Amino acid sequence: MFCSSSGARRRMELLALCAALGTGCTAPPSQTAKSSAAVVPVSKTGGSRADAFVDSLLATLTLEEKLGQLSQYSGFAAVTGPGAAEASMEQLRQGGVSSFLNVTGADSVRKLQRIAIEDTRTRIPLLFGHDVIHGMRTIFPIPLAEASSWNPDAVREAARIAAREASAYGINWTFAPMVDVARDPRWGRITEGSGEDPYLGSVMGAARVRGFQGDDLRARESIAATVKHFAAYGGAEGGRDYNVVDVSERGMREVFLPPFRAAACAGAATFMASFNEIAGVPAHANRWLLTDLLRGEWGFDGVVVGDWGGVAELIPHGIAADSAEAARRSLEAGVDIEMVSGTYSRNIPRLVRSGAISQAAVDQAVRRVLRFKQRLGLFQDPYRGADAGRERSEVLTPAHRAAARHLAQQSIVLLRNEDNTLPLSRDLRTIAVVGALAADSVSTLGSWAGIGRAADAVSVLDGIRRAVSPRTRVIYERGTDPTRSDTSRFRAAMRAARTADAVILVVGEPAWMSGEAESRASIELPGAQLELAQRIRALGKPLVVVLMNGRPLAVPWLAENAPALVEAWFLGVEMGNALSDVLFGAVNPSGKLTVTFPRSVGQIPLYYNHRRTGRPPAADSKWNSKYIDLPWTPQFPFGFGLSYTSYTYSSPRLSSETMGPRDSLRVEVTVTNTGRRAGEEIVQLYVQDEIASVTRPVIELRRFRRVPLGAGESRTVRFSLGLDDLAFYDTRMRRVAEPGSFRVFVGGSSRDVNETRFRFVTPDNNPVSAPESCAAVGN
Ligand code: NOJ
Repeated sequence: MFCSSSGARRRMELLALCAALGTGCTAPPSQTAKSSAAVVPVSKTGGSRADAFVDSLLATLTLEEKLGQLSQYSGFAAVTGPGAAEASMEQLRQGGVSSFLNVTGADSVRKLQRIAIEDTRTRIPLLFGHDVIHGMRTIFPIPLAEASSWNPDAVREAARIAAREASAYGINWTFAPMVDVARDPRWGRITEGSGEDPYLGSVMGAARVRGFQGDDLRARESIAATVKHFAAYGGAEGGRDYNVVDVSERGMREVFLPPFRAAACAGAATFMASFNEIAGVPAHANRWLLTDLLRGEWGFDGVVVGDWGGVAELIPHGIAADSAEAARRSLEAGVDIEMVSGTYSRNIPRLVRSGAISQAAVDQAVRRVLRFKQRLGLFQDPYRGADAGRERSEVLTPAHRAAARHLAQQSIVLLRNEDNTLPLSRDLRTIAVVGALAADSVSTLGSWAGIGRAADAVSVLDGIRRAVSPRTRVIYERGTDPTRSDTSRFRAAMRAARTADAVILVVGEPAWMSGEAESRASIELPGAQLELAQRIRALGKPLVVVLMNGRPLAVPWLAENAPALVEAWFLGVEMGNALSDVLFGAVNPSGKLTVTFPRSVGQIPLYYNHRRTGRPPAADSKWNSKYIDLPWTPQFPFGFGLSYTSYTYSSPRLSSETMGPRDSLRVEVTVTNTGRRAGEEIVQLYVQDEIASVTRPVIELRRFRRVPLGAGESRTVRFSLGLDDLAFYDTRMRRVAEPGSFRVFVGGSSRDVNETRFRFVTPDNNPVSAPESCAAVGN
């Protein structure tokens, strides 16, 4: 195609000749970046001109080259699963590769890109994908922690910084955000999402897409987002990664799909199919999901990429007899690019030639891939931001670190603070810091930490040492390793604790215990950590327990006995500084949980927006939905988090007692900081449809806002509700809002709310249609 001009063809011939002769000769510079990299002015890439360009390019490709555009291979390092085929240089030179993942670094990227655009017949630039999940080099808090900030602006900025840095290393495509709603903390990948709520997940997912892609996907600092894992991957039975999901269409539309829709509405360039099946159909073969819903109903026109080996996994799923059938089913379902297993390129040319797959199905997928490359501006500038100079000067900058620290501060959740144990004075004579995690800067980064380095991270211990006054002595003892039951260091830890004025005990899970393929059957503190905590507690010293973990833990003893308990997650490169800002009071904690903490693994799944049942749990009778050996309530509910100050809420006030289909209802509440410190409160608004034609959740988040409040200050916070906030799917799966009574709750967590009521009225007292739209998912 770029070779369609005779000059370019000549250049190819010369290159081939040079290669054959093995001489060091170079081909004459064809109009390289210009004529070779298919000239499409940036301003003219939309609409029919763009389509015409893509079509003309497509027309020049052989069938094998087309399959090359549908094949992604892992670069020569990091592997995240079995079954990866290796791309050879020869394959690359023959146009058999559309993209790489796990190739990072401007030099490596430029080298491979040069081969693609100079040494291949097709001269189509490569995509370089990478899992940039919560930062590239400047590592931000894990996504579950970031969500606990309830600060979508800061989350968008974190993604923007990640994109800026990733682009310097040559990455133009990230496999993020993960927007899987997760209600099972055993599932290791809960760490990578925003928690259990579809609305909050939608807001955060859209924020991340906007951060990665910016206003202009072609800008050198923008990278394309991938919304994953489509869909319902978080619903894995038993919390076991890759396991079966059996969910109703209602469950899909109400719980799992909204964040995907929101991310598509925010302009996400690509989607990734999930490993799991949904009600018997694996996502990689699910035409309803990938085509009818995603493209048909939602109008998505970007690329769908398969997950690692997901096409070939249709064989062990038991719906394809061999790789040819797996390839056919995936392509026909709507997987455009196959990740790593090489099944497409090995089988599809033959299947097309035998008539088993239509040429049109292949062309459609290739067209989408070319259009994606075009949207990224790769045909104008195949190297985009990849620049060894930028790698040095534009990553891990003081501004990036400051943003990471700020978001980390806001992601910390104070779970308990008896007798104002926190904040600690930075002038104490001696502080004992106990726990291997306190000095573990690898864990500080969390899982999927881009190309983050432990050496860049401020560990908890380092942060504490920096924060205390010069007169304070900080003694450190490992105490115990989080995953071992070894108690041999207890004695030294106890000695340190005895001599200290306060103890900071850091316990939890090392970072590797959450993430892909890291599901746990127990979510208690591993190893001997609980015993260590109990022994230290018995000393009666001021004790602050800091949790480092990538999932909710069941820690009932700590929740009832630790004088102070802080959920610090894995906060990234600035963890030690941000945590110390909170521990010593420079910052008032403000994060709130976006996922329920159960008392025991036996309560799972436990989530705030459950339905009511015919026998809702109640303490005063036996015959209702509860346990005989444990309360039915969580340890810490969704939306929960304390502060060093206190807040009170007025009852919510409504602009009207009734609301019609075209109205917007104003909800006002006065929030007062009743303490002596300034703080930021996360004000949450929930609704309940009291009586509907299908059962509705007890309470559903619909709005939230982070509100700064000085000591003693009151503010009126206003929200407005509309038709979409009342809508749900009726028995025929039509999205409607039904007339009747609604409750509105406003407060500081899903449990601590004040409420009022209004009536939704329709002209003829019939339900009104509220079709799915971007507005319905908060866009
Ligand atoms: C498998 C994971 O499920 C997916 O999220 C990730 O993007 C790919 N591996 C590539 O690393």
